[in-house]
Amino acid sequence: MRTRKKKWTARELAENPRIVYSPETYKGRWHSFFGNSNPISLEIGCGKGKFIAQAANAFPDRNFIGLERDQTILAAAARLGLRVTEDARLAYIISDVEEMPTLFAPGEIQTLYIQFCDPWPNKKKWAKRRLTHSRFLRIYRELGVAAIFFKTDNRQLFEFSLEQFSQEGWLMKSISLDLHSSASSADETQFTTEYEEKFIALGQPIYRLEAYDRGGGGLKDANGSTGEIEEPAASNDLFSEDE
Ligand SMILES: C[S@@+](CC[C@H](N)C(=O)[O-])C[C@H]1O[C@@H](n2cnc3c(N)ncnc32)[C@H](O)[C@@H]1O
Repeated sequence: MRTRKKKWTARELAENPRIVYSPETYKGRWHSFFGNSNPISLEIGCGKGKFIAQAANAFPDRNFIGLERDQTILAAAARLGLRVTEDARLAYIISDVEEMPTLFAPGEIQTLYIQFCDPWPNKKKWAKRRLTHSRFLRIYRELGVAAIFFKTDNRQLFEFSLEQFSQEGWLMKSISLDLHSSASSADETQFTTEYEEKFIALGQPIYRLEAYDRGGGGLKDANGSTGEIEEPAASNDLFSEDE
């Protein structure tokens, strides 16, 4: 994502009350921070924050945190976040996903959104940087994340992610190879990200899956089922192309 510095960025970073500085000081205290015991969702690499602002506005009984390592982009997200209703429980953190264990105690984050993350196309060289690589899935599990909602436009990354989730024993549900070709009842699919809108405009399919930690206390999915691995909603041949 291009990060052209805007004039208002410094002021936004200094004054926006939704940006949390020294977030590590809230480790184990995020529910107190929000002032309720509602579940907390975290979006990794929230970009300019369209998705999380919409979701937080629609679900005031949930808490949302946007994590983004680029402070100029985060400033744009937080600016948008400030425009949503005060009922929204919404916070922004400038940090890297690698820092998650220093920011959150096990059990604090219930759901994770990973949406249009960098595909790191050279698998041999860069696979470990992919946010769905098994090393990250283990971090998410250690943090007690019960569900991960993953979207991408990149088929190779999607295939790689299916393998990684499967290898690490996550239960996959609602696998779609063309999310917007059919109506979905899942809450999480109502809202789109900035990148998603660009890919939709280009006519590209959006790949999506939900992954549940089997040890996640019987967490139910959006349709109330505890879930089994399902057949993809559209039938392209997965695992057929080498990277
Ligand atoms: C391709 S953009 C997608 C943004 C947004 N999710 C969307 O769909 O519009 C990926 C974003 O993730 C951020 N990012 C990449 N790696 C990250 C990491 N390790 N920790 C935190 N943010 C990261 C980038 O700065 C960028 O804003």
